[in-house]
Amino acid sequence: MAAVFLAGGAGYIGSHTAVELLNAGFEVIAADNFSNSSPESIRRVEQITGKSAVLYEADIRDRKAMTEIFRKHKIDAVIHFAGMKAVGESVQKPVEYYRNNLDTTLTLLEVMREEGCSKIIFSSSATVYGAENPVPYTETMPRGICSNPYGWTKAMTEQILEDAAKADPSLSVILLRYFNPIGAHSSGMIGEDPQGIPNNLMPYITQVAVGKREQLTIFGNDYPTPDGTCLRDYIHVVDLAKGHVCAANYILGMQGVEIFNLGTGRPYSVTEIVDAFERVNGIKVPHVYGDRRAGDLAEFYANAEKAREILHWETTLTLEDMCRDSWNWQKQNPNGYR
Ligand code: NAD
Ligand code: UD1
Repeated sequence: MAAVFLAGGAGYIGSHTAVELLNAGFEVIAADNFSNSSPESIRRVEQITGKSAVLYEADIRDRKAMTEIFRKHKIDAVIHFAGMKAVGESVQKPVEYYRNNLDTTLTLLEVMREEGCSKIIFSSSATVYGAENPVPYTETMPRGICSNPYGWTKAMTEQILEDAAKADPSLSVILLRYFNPIGAHSSGMIGEDPQGIPNNLMPYITQVAVGKREQLTIFGNDYPTPDGTCLRDYIHVVDLAKGHVCAANYILGMQGVEIFNLGTGRPYSVTEIVDAFERVNGIKVPHVYGDRRAGDLAEFYANAEKAREILHWETTLTLEDMCRDSWNWQKQNPNGYR
């Protein structure tokens, strides 16, 4: 049974990935400093799967703590989720974002090298394609100009991992470029638990639906798209998590660097998301149209062919599933894990 170390594993995508890895027979060891999560998520992962995972409270930048974990467990591969991810906050606090998001990677690479682990999968983002590339995005396109420090931390980390693999041919790297993950595990026991006012669309919608926020503001309806609102490639977090299981299986037998888009390839507009949420859940989401949000692109979506061909991974969950499961999680946990 291969063992996977989830850096930042208690978070939204990490916890869903832990479920799918355990279900697929992997051993899961996670570490998190709980700066944006709670240990409760991994407790619930264990309830969902009936299997146990090891969870450490630790900062991934803490070399001593990481070394201890790597000495205690024989880790076959790392999945690196740990990072700060709020785009607007990264503009206010660039130093904190560069410090955290780059140092976590550097510490992991150093400890992996010292302790003999040579496989790392990184949570990157479609944001690295920048505004220059035409849609759909394909993995062979060059990285673009990022519009904010968060995006640059993803682009820089990709570069660091590529350089490290070039210098050390025994290191294998997979860069997973996520599109827009939404939804939650169908049990409603784990889901996205944003602190404060949500930045992203779906958690904002669910908080309006549950009565925590008055109304949704749709950022712009004058984009050159069919209904004037932005188009995005929303992907169910459980499909995304299964993509990590495919990547974990693949990296065990590969050399070098591979990049995979994890998206559905099918874009939806903001209005389509709001309409689908209201229809599927039979609940109104009061909304108004406001100004465009700085830095937003009119549209982006994945060419998802490479992951299908090489990882044999395909999304199966629909927009309806995403809307139903997001609401199921929010309804059952109006205050998240608190
Ligand atoms: P999340 O905030 O729920 O998970 C990240 C986890 O990392 C949190 O549990 C946080 O406490 C932990 N963490 C942060 N810094 C740490 C540190 N120094 N040491 C230990 N733990 C630390 O976010 P998520 O949505 O699950 O995202 C996971 C990864 O995927 C992030 O790197 C994010 O940037 C990336 N990503 C997310 C999205 C998205 O829409 N959710 C899209 C593209 C990429
Ligand atoms: C954002 C980030 C991206 C990051 C991703 C996942 C920006 C510019 N991009 O993507 O780097 O990888 O989150 O964390 O922030 N919307 C509203 N009202 C709201 C919230 C969102 O209309 O209250 C709209 C947005 O304008 C956008 C769509 O909903 O068109 C999706 O927004 P969001 O969920 O924030 O994701 P992205 O902006 O695509």
